[in-house]
Amino acid sequence: MCGIVGYIGEDQAAPILLDGLSKLEYRGYDSAGMAVSNGEEIQIQKAAGRLKVLSELTHGGEMLKGTVGIGHTRWATHGSPSDSNAHPHLNSEQSIAVVHNGIIENYIRIRHKLEDKGYTFQSETDTETLVQLLDYYYDGNPLEAISKIMNRVEGSYALGIIFKDHPDKIYAVRKDSPLIVGTSENGNLIASDVPAVLKYTRNVYFIQNHEIACLTGNEIKFYNVDQEEIQKDATKIEWDINAAEKGGYEHFMLKEMYEQPKAVSDTLNPKHDPHIVDGKIVLNELGMTDEEILKIKKIYIVACGSAYHTGVTGKYVFEGMARIPVEVDLASEFRYRNPILDEGTLVIIISQSGETADSLAALREAKARGIKTLGIVNVVGSSIAREADNVMYTWAGPEIAVATTKAYSTQLIALYLLAMRFSQIRKTVSEEEMEVMIQDLKRLPDQIELLLANKEKIQKFANRYLAAKDVFFIGRGVDFAISLEGSLKLKEISYIHSEAYAAGELKHGTISLIEEGTLVAAVLTQEDLYKKMISNIVEVRTRGAFVMAVTNEGNIEVEKASDYVVYIPQTNSYFTNSLAIIPLQLFSYYVSLGKGCDVDKPRNLAKSVTVE
Ligand code: F6R
Repeated sequence: MCGIVGYIGEDQAAPILLDGLSKLEYRGYDSAGMAVSNGEEIQIQKAAGRLKVLSELTHGGEMLKGTVGIGHTRWATHGSPSDSNAHPHLNSEQSIAVVHNGIIENYIRIRHKLEDKGYTFQSETDTETLVQLLDYYYDGNPLEAISKIMNRVEGSYALGIIFKDHPDKIYAVRKDSPLIVGTSENGNLIASDVPAVLKYTRNVYFIQNHEIACLTGNEIKFYNVDQEEIQKDATKIEWDINAAEKGGYEHFMLKEMYEQPKAVSDTLNPKHDPHIVDGKIVLNELGMTDEEILKIKKIYIVACGSAYHTGVTGKYVFEGMARIPVEVDLASEFRYRNPILDEGTLVIIISQSGETADSLAALREAKARGIKTLGIVNVVGSSIAREADNVMYTWAGPEIAVATTKAYSTQLIALYLLAMRFSQIRKTVSEEEMEVMIQDLKRLPDQIELLLANKEKIQKFANRYLAAKDVFFIGRGVDFAISLEGSLKLKEISYIHSEAYAAGELKHGTISLIEEGTLVAAVLTQEDLYKKMISNIVEVRTRGAFVMAVTNEGNIEVEKASDYVVYIPQTNSYFTNSLAIIPLQLFSYYVSLGKGCDVDKPRNLAKSVTVE
């Protein structure tokens, strides 16, 4: 959560900082601020509210003159979203400014110590402790002061720091919060994430834990915590620059939904390493040998939020197809529950950002126990991608809307591919079956496109439910997994209470909540569970529910059992989630739009949850 940026070079810093922050606003939008040095003093502007408040306050950055600066967009953790808690934070002499993403866990102890020494604090934040501590240690050598605070503070941080008496430098340092440094002809940049610098450069350095970067306008030096210079290589980012722009769509979410056919296709067959070759699934990038795959006795899939929901799908697919027992766990639970991890266990961590704090901690927990880990990650070079023993990338490109759509869809694809590869090696699926599955996989991008073209119909239906108080999503098998995701999509962006249930579980309590007119979205794509689902639909309908059914083309008798039907094209029963999710995403989007909610930036949320 929170996004930081910094710029030093030939151009005015403030407009570049505002532009960079606009690409990071998905990381938090409770307040924003900038500190710009004009060589003589550090000027600060910050304000509670969205970035546009800061932009108006500074006339698009015009008010802050100077070619060196740092900026911040906040998702409040310690202290309310107020002006005074907004970053940057300064020491009392206004000679050091800091922006911070992360949480300092021992800040109260440090704050008390500094207060005893006469320091006064202006905010309730943990970050102000950092800047006051820097002030305490600083005697003219920034690197030394930074290295001292690194040895003193506990928790996570990515920091951008400027010093009044070193106006030609920006310092940046990280521990457990993402940080990149970009290098361009007109200057150098720091940021929490790649989209913030893409407009200026594709050459970035991924800063690792306990590394310090010192940027001038035309040079970047890297140091370890002992202040020894270290060498790092730049990575060339392949993302299309337009990928981080709305490109004519009203919202990033809508644009990203429309990018799903391409994202799915790119994940099926990445340019550099196609996964479907001569009718076989090939996963060269995985780096796991056939022997290793044969030795797997159990899989844990660990993730958060929507990524966890893809894991639930993964359980059905891996168990059904590859006959490997799978446990799916929320990363925040896994990391603290002392899971039983034996030899032969593979832990798969799924994460779009590759920086989610709980998922990263779960990965580290598994590694510390000597268990093999595999990351399914979208952001190249992110912490989970770097730290997992093996990585399988999803190729969704940058996802900006807080509610995931295209990354979710690509995670499903990665799981199908893995399960198919494992099945091939373990010979749990015949060659003929595999051939049919591969054909079905290849058709998914076009089928998704077809479903997206149906948006007006879904919009009309969604507009009838803007005042809904509760919505239920039900399904069996993989349709239960998709119900979880459909429900999360709706509640997170429309603020309508919704719940997902395994359809057979409803009558064990929840059915008492169904009243006249309650919307129930029933997903029934599994032919073997079809009749059971029809019974469940009848049960809720008898109690007054209005039923929207999502089912396979051809299942016309569903029309009699429900009030509104959305058909998805025929595909393999393992892959139906990839199609059924499209109308559910569109439904949530249009309910949110119709209610006038902030679709891309729902309240209280941030895209990348880098705190636990
Ligand atoms: C919901 C959503 C979140 C993320 C979750 C994990 O639409 O996007 O639930 O799926 O925060 O994030 P990553 O995948 O970055 O680890």
